[in-house]
Amino acid sequence: MRTIWWDAESRAVGMIDQTHLPERLEDILVGSIDGLCEAIQSLRVRGAPALGAAGAYGVALAAARSGATDPAALLDDVREAAGVIRAARPTAVNLSWGVDRAVKAIDEIKESADADEIRAAALAEAELIAGEDVSINKALGEVGASLLEDGDVVLTHCNAGRLACVDWGTALGVIRSAVAQGKKISVYACETRPLFQGSRLTAWELSEDNIPVTLICDSMAGMIMRQGKIDKVIVGADRITKDAVFNKIGTYTHAVLAKAHGIPFYVAAPISTFDLAHSEEEVEIEERGADEIRRLGDRQLAPPEVRVYNPAFDATPIDLVTGIITERGIYRPPEIPFKNR
Ligand code: MRU
Repeated sequence: MRTIWWDAESRAVGMIDQTHLPERLEDILVGSIDGLCEAIQSLRVRGAPALGAAGAYGVALAAARSGATDPAALLDDVREAAGVIRAARPTAVNLSWGVDRAVKAIDEIKESADADEIRAAALAEAELIAGEDVSINKALGEVGASLLEDGDVVLTHCNAGRLACVDWGTALGVIRSAVAQGKKISVYACETRPLFQGSRLTAWELSEDNIPVTLICDSMAGMIMRQGKIDKVIVGADRITKDAVFNKIGTYTHAVLAKAHGIPFYVAAPISTFDLAHSEEEVEIEERGADEIRRLGDRQLAPPEVRVYNPAFDATPIDLVTGIITERGIYRPPEIPFKNR
């Protein structure tokens, strides 16, 4: 099962519409750049590695749907679309990374290629990125599984599973790989207010795979760490700068709690999530609408006019991170032995 793919027949991007989970598993086809941006902004497709693939497929979509026959005009259409897709969500660096890789692939052949060859090159790069995502997550999973012992109980936050990637997952990929090695691993999944990626997606994914999972509210993490119930914390990342890990809001709290209780705090992320040229203060944290907190579906949960602050991500200082699990190995901050990507 892949989270995002190219549908050749309709020349559209296919994806699991994650907003319907866990009630139903439903696919949608997205055939326009506006539709793709809507899907990204409303979290039909979400999670940093999946957004990388979405960005690249978006470039392929722009090329496929442009009516231009002249290569220069086609490139203008693609570049305009690339800018729009890049801006759809600001924090996960993989989105612009995926867009930029697909644009670079066509830039490299533009002098000698006709319009159809440019279209084919954009799609080939997007398919390559999607395929690589799966193999990278499996490699990362193998690396991370070496940290897990038989019987370990892992706390995770948000969804860094196959739904957040093209397949397998990062934080949940580590757990899947350990389980595939025969280790008994169980998971505490934080529900992840306000959009419930933990309860809707992580609890669903792990249950589907028969990996034991216990759902808790985000505010319960401190108590269960103090009770000695957690051996390791493993989360994903949306961007790793030289001084901080950006991930779903609430991650920083878990890192502080893990430190206070002497529990290792690991981040699992592919190299494409690293942005070592930047530091924490240069990264924009997406702020989302007030009604995500004031309302729950049809229910009003708070006074309709109450002021709300709704940052979607937080930054965890790198010195709170025990190790970053990547496809190239485990890096123990602050020693990150590569320049960037
Ligand atoms: O707002 P979301 O659901 O896109 O946030 C996703 C996360 O914060 C994930 O933990 C992160 O992208 C890592 S996914 C492997």
